[in-house]
Amino acid sequence: MSAHATDTPARRAFYERISTQNLAPLWTSMANLITPEPKSPCVPASWRFDAIRAAMIEAGGLITAKEAERRVLVLENPGLRGQSKITTDLYAGVQMVLPGEVAPAHRHTQTALRFVLEGEGAHTVVNGERTQMRPGDFIITPPMAWHDHGNESADAIYWLDGLDIPVVQFLDASFAEHMGEDAQPITRKPDDSAARFGANLLPVDHKRRGTFSPIFNYPYARTREALETMKRQGEWDPCHGLKMRYANPETGGHATATMGTFMQLLPAGFRTVAYRSTDATVMVPIEGRGRTHIGEDFTVHWGPKDVFVVPSWHRVRHEADEEAVLFSFSDRPIQEALGLFREDRGNG
Ligand SMILES: [Fe+2]
Repeated sequence: MSAHATDTPARRAFYERISTQNLAPLWTSMANLITPEPKSPCVPASWRFDAIRAAMIEAGGLITAKEAERRVLVLENPGLRGQSKITTDLYAGVQMVLPGEVAPAHRHTQTALRFVLEGEGAHTVVNGERTQMRPGDFIITPPMAWHDHGNESADAIYWLDGLDIPVVQFLDASFAEHMGEDAQPITRKPDDSAARFGANLLPVDHKRRGTFSPIFNYPYARTREALETMKRQGEWDPCHGLKMRYANPETGGHATATMGTFMQLLPAGFRTVAYRSTDATVMVPIEGRGRTHIGEDFTVHWGPKDVFVVPSWHRVRHEADEEAVLFSFSDRPIQEALGLFREDRGNG
């Protein structure tokens, strides 16, 4: 793009005059609008789970899940404070449900994903079907699906919520409703969708009902077992180790239309080669310890349940001290649909 146009008294006077008619010159702002490379206020950031949990326990003493509707602490990107964003177009928060609590039934056009961090015995209900939530499980709530959460166990449960709130906000397409009940009626047997769609089978006359996966819980036990089997092959991608993408069994596409979700395994001692891509990514190790170098000067030392962000077009390198398993999500499906996704392997 051309260099900034110089300012002159005559030009300035003109800009001020036309401003009253809601007009503005493009030539003073074009270089900031159409940049040669991604330029984002989103910055590398990380959160320790221990610190999040301590704050959540404090929040638990201040407000119930029911009164809060959702008792969540939002992970705000330091470059985007006050906007409820972890990246420019995605939201993330950590939710806690204490024993005996409910998060009442509601629905909205925003797509949600849950990644369970700690605790067992709590459940979520999506569109009349109930599923247990266990650490490492990846659960989706499609647009306008009724959902409520409950915890009958003796322990608090914590999970990471990822939503496309900023995308829906940008598009001015937010709709939400309350059911007026704590729990929605159960109309399907537990885990029916996993059996029906998650066993390499599809109902013979099945027609696609939406842009999202018909499976709503991808249990960690199955994902982990798959990674364990694949790792025996010893085939490692230099940039990713062993990285898999959660798929919609109807299409092979992403599990949701707006958020791509991934699980990757890095063997102990593995160091990845630099990689960058245009999809700013939220990463959550669920097993293992290591370090990740992001961009020129940011290093996060991570362990299980910590959360960190790799902004768009920042080079990332992972170093695993122990065998590690990392969940991640990004806006990759949107970028792919629009032909915007770009990646760069290595330092070239
Ligand atoms: Fe919700």
